[in-house]
Amino acid sequence: MQGSANLNLMIKAARKAGRSLVKDFREVENLQVSAKGPGDFVSKADREAERIIKEELMGGRPSYGWLGEETGETAGEDPTRRWIVDPLDGTTNFLHGLPHWSVSIALEHKGQIVSAVIFDPAKDELYWAEKGAGAWMNDKRLRVSGRRNMIEAIFATGVPFGGRGTLPATLQDLARLMPVCAGVRRWGSAALDLAYVAAGRYDGYWERGINAWDIAAGMLLVREAGGFVSGIREDDDPLEKGAVICGNEGLFEPFRKIIRGE
Ligand code: IPD
Ligand code: CA
Repeated sequence: MQGSANLNLMIKAARKAGRSLVKDFREVENLQVSAKGPGDFVSKADREAERIIKEELMGGRPSYGWLGEETGETAGEDPTRRWIVDPLDGTTNFLHGLPHWSVSIALEHKGQIVSAVIFDPAKDELYWAEKGAGAWMNDKRLRVSGRRNMIEAIFATGVPFGGRGTLPATLQDLARLMPVCAGVRRWGSAALDLAYVAAGRYDGYWERGINAWDIAAGMLLVREAGGFVSGIREDDDPLEKGAVICGNEGLFEPFRKIIRGE
């Protein structure tokens, strides 16, 4: 695998955090029958994974900035570079013993994502991309799907939970999209949803009310695999506005029109 020194550092951090999470994931089943339940345990696993990643990345590049789901934002001495990290994307799956969750790490340079790693330890799938160098899963080059007909296409999304305000808009999206496509999936890890679009497994993905750490790495994967990514409204930056849509070359425009209600 030929990658930059930064990419290799990101992969090392993701694998190390992945090992710690796998160990904790095996414990989750036992905890489900304990009095306290697994909630506390999982948030500890999550925090420990972020600690491991931060130690590796900030140890290797102490001048970079940091944005992590668990520890928030810290400005770096170098204002042009920032790590964007979700140590455990798919926390609810993890908590329920469902083996579909990931570690997501992105490197931003001057406002653009330049390197990305998403690691799915349960399936031993390591997705990575660098700007201009393509997108990969383990040692296989990724390419978005070639489907051209909406009725054959599968789309992924995240549906809001726990009373989040994006529910009405998401229900309207679903009402417009579901009758004209082959299916909609909600698998519970936004980072993997994007990685699956890059891998041609899904034909597109959209989500409202999403955070930068959920999507930063996956956005580069999709672009480097030949797909398109944007905000749901024309000029919006998905990382700032928290709404993202992506798809393969042939379906991105019709899919985006449906989601925008045009
Ligand atoms: C969540 C997952 C989920 C998405 C949610 C995210 P978390 O992240 O990515 O797929 O629908 O919006 O918050 O909480 O598991 O890290
Ligand atoms: Ca997440």
